Amino acid sequence: MLPAAVLALATAGIAAAANGGFTPQFAHSPNTHHTNTAYYVILGFTGAIFVIVESALALFIWKYRSRGRARTVEGFQLHGATRLEIVWTVIPVVILAVIATVIFIELPNITGAPASAANPLEITVEGHQFYWQFDYPNGTRTINDLYVPVGQVVELKVVSADVVHSWWIPQLNGKIQAIPGRTNHTWFRADRAGTYYGQCAELCGPYHEAMKARVIAAPLDEYVVQREMATEALGKHEFQGVCATCHGMQGQGGYGPALANNSLLTQKSGLEAIVRNGRGLMPPVGNTWNDAQVNALVQYAKSKIFKGASTSGG
Ligand code: CUA
Repeated sequence: MLPAAVLALATAGIAAAANGGFTPQFAHSPNTHHTNTAYYVILGFTGAIFVIVESALALFIWKYRSRGRARTVEGFQLHGATRLEIVWTVIPVVILAVIATVIFIELPNITGAPASAANPLEITVEGHQFYWQFDYPNGTRTINDLYVPVGQVVELKVVSADVVHSWWIPQLNGKIQAIPGRTNHTWFRADRAGTYYGQCAELCGPYHEAMKARVIAAPLDEYVVQREMATEALGKHEFQGVCATCHGMQGQGGYGPALANNSLLTQKSGLEAIVRNGRGLMPPVGNTWNDAQVNALVQYAKSKIFKGASTSGG
């Protein structure tokens, strides 16, 4: 009874995972299709080798069991088998050569966007402790949610404002690091409208796990509207995506101190100084923000978060 229950528990997680839990997420961009192809080729070889080796092991354990012989009896001794040794050297060499060939064929399609792509959308992805900031060609910015047109090549410049992060949307692109002082490049082309989820893949500080990202792909006209709506709600997204990680969604406090009764929220100069420069444990979360971003945060904090100054002494 107990083993059956344990087995059911152990397999439930695997069954609940999207595709048996053994394979990458379903690809929704040409480059991830190529990544998955490489994965399945290697899985094919390693799977076959696993089955052959483990079957042989089980077979030999059973076939050559001691059958009551004394422990001290020596087995049959064999020296030199040139043909066998050549065979078991050549087969792995051939397998590795096939895998390497497949990888070298697939790699250019994974790393580089198709040269034929007509006017790709260029987006800068900036990693911050602990959020993602996206810069669009028209000068707008969004936080944590990246809006893209479906079916269009999106070229990403991946940078960091502080420490090393890793940009990864498993259905759209492989991992690429965001490294301070360096620009890395990746791309994707979402093949259908929808929301694709990702998470910073490099341990980057106490709130690494809060660095979630979404890519929202929609037809071109919808994409433009969604991006504009996000830009108008920038202050809200900044508070919820940046400040709330440590200070709570209502500014009630958490890892960082409570803000809701702090009159600093109503003073642009003071708030801007802290956001840009950090203070104590707080990182300079807004060190790359433009004036519009600071204004948006001040507006939102003043009107939605500030609950009036606390009266000292109760
Ligand atoms: Cu950024 Cu982990």
